Amino acid sequence: MSRRLVLLGPPGAGKGTLGSRLATALSVPLVVTGDLMRETSQKGDALGLQIRSFVESGKLVPDDLVSQMIARALKHDNVASTGFILDGFPRTLPQAESLANFLEHEGCSLDAVLLLDIDEATAIERLALRRQCVRCGAIYHLRFSPPKNPDKCDKCGDSLIQRSDDHPDVIRRRLTVYREQTTPLIHYYEGRRLLSRINATMTPDEVFQAAMTAVNKLSRSSTGVGQ
Ligand code: AP5
Ligand code: MG
Repeated sequence: MSRRLVLLGPPGAGKGTLGSRLATALSVPLVVTGDLMRETSQKGDALGLQIRSFVESGKLVPDDLVSQMIARALKHDNVASTGFILDGFPRTLPQAESLANFLEHEGCSLDAVLLLDIDEATAIERLALRRQCVRCGAIYHLRFSPPKNPDKCDKCGDSLIQRSDDHPDVIRRRLTVYREQTTPLIHYYEGRRLLSRINATMTPDEVFQAAMTAVNKLSRSSTGVGQ
């Protein structure tokens, strides 16, 4: 089973939604870069305030800072060698290089990059009505996957909020940043034969099934099954 995965895709593609289901199915930790940034930004110290200004304006946090935080997360509990799913990292070519160097140093490498393909109009529609639990991070959509109570998390009962970067002008900025800084990674990972494209406009169940098929195919080819 393939266990070192990156989820790539624009804001609203469904990285977090797919990531949590894949992490459970594959029994590997999910590292959500955006959540790491939001947690750090809530601390209110100098680093937190610096990160908050990037996140709330829809810009990327500087590469060296993010790469260091991810390396720390992957070193924790030896996650680099036992497996992981990265949601939202890398997002720039320098971040991709930094990840490759880090993994090489740890004696391993990525198994696959799943690209969640979606048009911008659908992504914007998803983000506009997204709600997220302040405690457990569960993700809802008021129309597509509504909670039983619009203000409370079905899983832990805590409050649901709208993310501060889910406002129309910031969403537009995030999509532009994705187009300009992250789409070069598609070519980068295609060239390394790591990229699998998933149609992310399908239902969450269908997206999950497509992702599992892609992951299983990779495992079969790495063990020679079916060749
Ligand atoms: P991050 O939190 O990663 O935001 P993002 O990339 O903009 O992605 P989102 O979390 O908004 O969308 P998603 O793809 O996870 O979709 P979701 O599953 O929630 O990053 C935030 C910020 O942190 C960045 O802007 C930057 O400042 C900073 N940052 C993060 N990583 C960084 C990095 N590497 N370098 C530098 N800075 C970094 O789904 C969206 C909605 O759609 C939900 O409501 C969900 O219920 C619904 N939905 C999901 N799937 C489906 C489906 N199949 N059908 C119908 N609805 C669906
Ligand atoms: Mg997310």
